Amino acid sequence: MSEAASARSRHSSPAAVPLGPLEPMLRAWLPRQRWFAGKGRAITRLRLVSAVELLPPGSTPGLLHLLVGVDCADGTADCYQLLLGVRPAPLPPGLAPALIGHAERGPYAGHAVYEGLGDPRLAALLLERLRAPGSHGPLRFDRDPDAPIPADPAPRPLSGEQTNSSLIYGDSHILKVFRRVWPGTNPDLELPRALASAGCARVPAPVAWYEAELPAGPPGGHRTAEPLTLGVLQPYLRGSEDGWQLALRRLAAGADFTAEAHALGRATAEVHSALAAALPTVALGPAQAARLAAGMTARLAATVREVPALQPFEDGLRGAFDALAASRGAGVPAQRIHGDLHLGQTLRTADGSWALIDFEGEPARPLADRRRPEPAVRDIAGMLRSFDYAARSHRPFAPAWADACRAAFCEGYARTTGRDPREDPVLLRAYETDKAVYEARYESRHRPDWLHVPMAAIRRLAERERPARRMPHPSPPPPGSAAPHPHPKPPRRPLA
Ligand SMILES: Nc1ncnc2c1ncn2[C@@H]1O[C@H](COP(=O)(O)OP(=O)(O)O)[C@@H](O)[C@H]1O
Ligand SMILES: [Mg+2]
Repeated sequence: MSEAASARSRHSSPAAVPLGPLEPMLRAWLPRQRWFAGKGRAITRLRLVSAVELLPPGSTPGLLHLLVGVDCADGTADCYQLLLGVRPAPLPPGLAPALIGHAERGPYAGHAVYEGLGDPRLAALLLERLRAPGSHGPLRFDRDPDAPIPADPAPRPLSGEQTNSSLIYGDSHILKVFRRVWPGTNPDLELPRALASAGCARVPAPVAWYEAELPAGPPGGHRTAEPLTLGVLQPYLRGSEDGWQLALRRLAAGADFTAEAHALGRATAEVHSALAAALPTVALGPAQAARLAAGMTARLAATVREVPALQPFEDGLRGAFDALAASRGAGVPAQRIHGDLHLGQTLRTADGSWALIDFEGEPARPLADRRRPEPAVRDIAGMLRSFDYAARSHRPFAPAWADACRAAFCEGYARTTGRDPREDPVLLRAYETDKAVYEARYESRHRPDWLHVPMAAIRRLAERERPARRMPHPSPPPPGSAAPHPHPKPPRRPLA
């Protein structure tokens, strides 16, 4: 029997667990992590929400599962999942980059504490836990009994992620470990499971997952019995390439991408249809459509205050939202959607078909918002904006390439659903405008060199309102070459 399978776990109540000696090192380490959302904010307090030793005390290495509440000076309170390795100091050289600090007192005195996911033995243990479902204190491990999980595949971390941490096991499975966690099922577990049950093969089906059940909920949340989703294991699509990289390669080669865009439209439509069949749908009445438009208008006003370059276009952009508020006598159909769809969330698999991944939605939005039904056109607008981003990251800018892809995507979508999203221009324009405004705020905060990309869309979208006036030409692309990623990652700070 493996070390993991024979291991006895111990759950300690927060009061009994000495975060004390760990606190200074975690305070220094957390803000340096890519996935830490509170960058730039002073941490006022760390709070232990839950602690579970996943290996018996005294094991070498030890594995400590923590949920830690982080309170910041601006009043925000988030909850993070940490998996800490513990070994007698010093760490073996291969683990040195994973070091968090040395404990000088408490039960770990004389031990090095390190990022547990960086230790192949501990990563293997986590997979072993998922293979053998059951509870460990507040942690509950579950799996699909019909989906095999290999016993000892070699783990390796996925590089380049920003919001979570993933491990790839032997090229057969990928485990996404969520870092910032909330009460309530994460849509990245909920939606792929619903799609798998509905027989939709466009999304890798979760084979195992783990959650925490905390009677009191994490700090900053409400008292709730809703579990927090902590990790999801799914098949790794070996040999796949993400849609953003593929699009950039095609652009660099001067090659067409419309066949792929068309197929992507079909794949998106299949996923939307399956979600609408599997989960509740609603029709947003005129009052709700007006509220939707009011929310977009408020986001625009806040963004104009922050990004003065938007100011000349504010009236034109607002026109898109006014038109939405005025046009919805018949209401807007809403359903569960992807929520953050762009080329970087698609994988073209080795057999040439498209898969959609990462159903978390925009992590900066509250979980309850992300789980609400929304018009499917929100996803379509996200993908249309993504073709524009790809074309504008190419030098020279390739407008015809973007236009052709946008049209092909909509045609593919219509082929599957029988309805072309362009037949509802008011709704599509409102969502594209809202997305471009979001992008402008993101780029101005985090990547000012990229602000020209949403600004070009903003000129185009505002101009539709005032066709008589000629708008200035888009500014040239920035210096430098390859784009770091397809679309703005959610801002580090929650949107105001
Ligand atoms: N099932 C999978 N098969 C192959 N690669 C995957 C799979 N899931 C995720 N990836 C890779 O991991 C990256 C990050 O995954 P994603 O779920 O989008 O995480 P994040 O929330 O950090 O954006 C993807 O862009 C893709 O390259
Ligand atoms: Mg992603």
